[in-house]
Amino acid sequence: MDSEFYRSIAHESSWCEVSKTAIRANVEILRRRVGEGVILGIVVKSDAYGHGLIPCAQEFLKAGADWLIVNFAYEAIRLRQAGIEAPIYVCGNVSAAQVAMLAEYDGIRIALYDADVARAAAEAAQRTGHVIPVHILIETGTHRQGLVTEEALQLAKLVSQLDGISLEGIATHYADIEDTTDHRFAHQQLTRLQEAEQAFRQAGFDLPIVQSANSAATILWNQTHAAMVRVGIAAYGLWPSKETYAKVLQTFADRGEGFIPNLQPVLSWRARVVQVKAVPAGGYVGYGRTFRAAYPMKIAVLPLGYHEGYDRRLSNLGYVIINGMRAPVCGRICMNMFMVDVTHIPNVQVGTVATLLGSDGEERVSAEQLASWMGTINYEVVARIHPSQPRYLVETELAPDSQPLLASSIS
Ligand SMILES: Cc1ncc(COP(=O)(O)O)c(C=O)c1O
Repeated sequence: MDSEFYRSIAHESSWCEVSKTAIRANVEILRRRVGEGVILGIVVKSDAYGHGLIPCAQEFLKAGADWLIVNFAYEAIRLRQAGIEAPIYVCGNVSAAQVAMLAEYDGIRIALYDADVARAAAEAAQRTGHVIPVHILIETGTHRQGLVTEEALQLAKLVSQLDGISLEGIATHYADIEDTTDHRFAHQQLTRLQEAEQAFRQAGFDLPIVQSANSAATILWNQTHAAMVRVGIAAYGLWPSKETYAKVLQTFADRGEGFIPNLQPVLSWRARVVQVKAVPAGGYVGYGRTFRAAYPMKIAVLPLGYHEGYDRRLSNLGYVIINGMRAPVCGRICMNMFMVDVTHIPNVQVGTVATLLGSDGEERVSAEQLASWMGTINYEVVARIHPSQPRYLVETELAPDSQPLLASSIS
């Protein structure tokens, strides 16, 4: 751990470290996977999966990403207001009112499945002079956003009749690619997208971009790359699931170890001890008195809780790392505090740094480990770290082998 860095942020009680080194390594892995001719779109929605929108967007672009992908209009506007000029694709719902705001900026394309939004986009684009490229979403089996091919063709016809918007592509999103190693349903979805593409071309539409690949598809199947991929979780160095990892091991077993991406987790989360106290044998710790000391203990108090994103389900279950050793959570996670057992850890004092997510010495807490304790997925663990936690860009050493998931969660 870099003590000079920690001295420089002495005023912070808890924070996240975002590794530029890991971002560069992940972008390089993804670029190698898709090749030079494919648009590498990195999904930075939801505050860059909790990693911090603007700094991450800038680092991804510096590292060689081509496009940024967000869910909401306001996220695209934040990127432009920060001076980021790269192409942006808004993949979530954009209302007629919001599209008028997007038209104030250049190079923001939207996912489209609504004729009223198409008309509003055209009207706004004619007013501002910024053409809005649109990607019509094709319903292939997720039933979340999108139109069946016949309706999509009608919408494309409308788009072609309107000034100010242009059909740039079609897109879909896979329903069942992370949760299973049986990818027949996802393959059916890809086939449906390819059939839609054929129908569009037969109807005379030019389609520069057909896109479907999220992280799992990008890593597993070259045939989904087409002109563009939309990679989220893998860019942050996390595997979409243990099933994806298992499938990669299975699929590429004969290609050698070099073909298994060594994804590098980007985010670490740390906090300072704010109090160290003795608890006598028989003393309780925290709300509900759910923890009782069986022998005299030393407890450290950490100044964050479920409001900051350290989930209450980690009560009496998780551990943090202090001075390279595990410090188990004692009692319930409070709204802005929790307590850990440091009886066995030397030199713990006010100001000592605890690692909630990430590595310290030989020990590591992974997003997958936290997710398994919380009954959720690694996506939610990082995406829910509260914006109050400052994100600092740092350089780090690369992990020689990222071993994405702990043995306990992959078995
Ligand atoms: C439409 C769309 N594309 C791509 C992604 C990226 O998925 P992943 O993080 O699994 O790469 C998401 C994430 O939820 C999404 O909603």
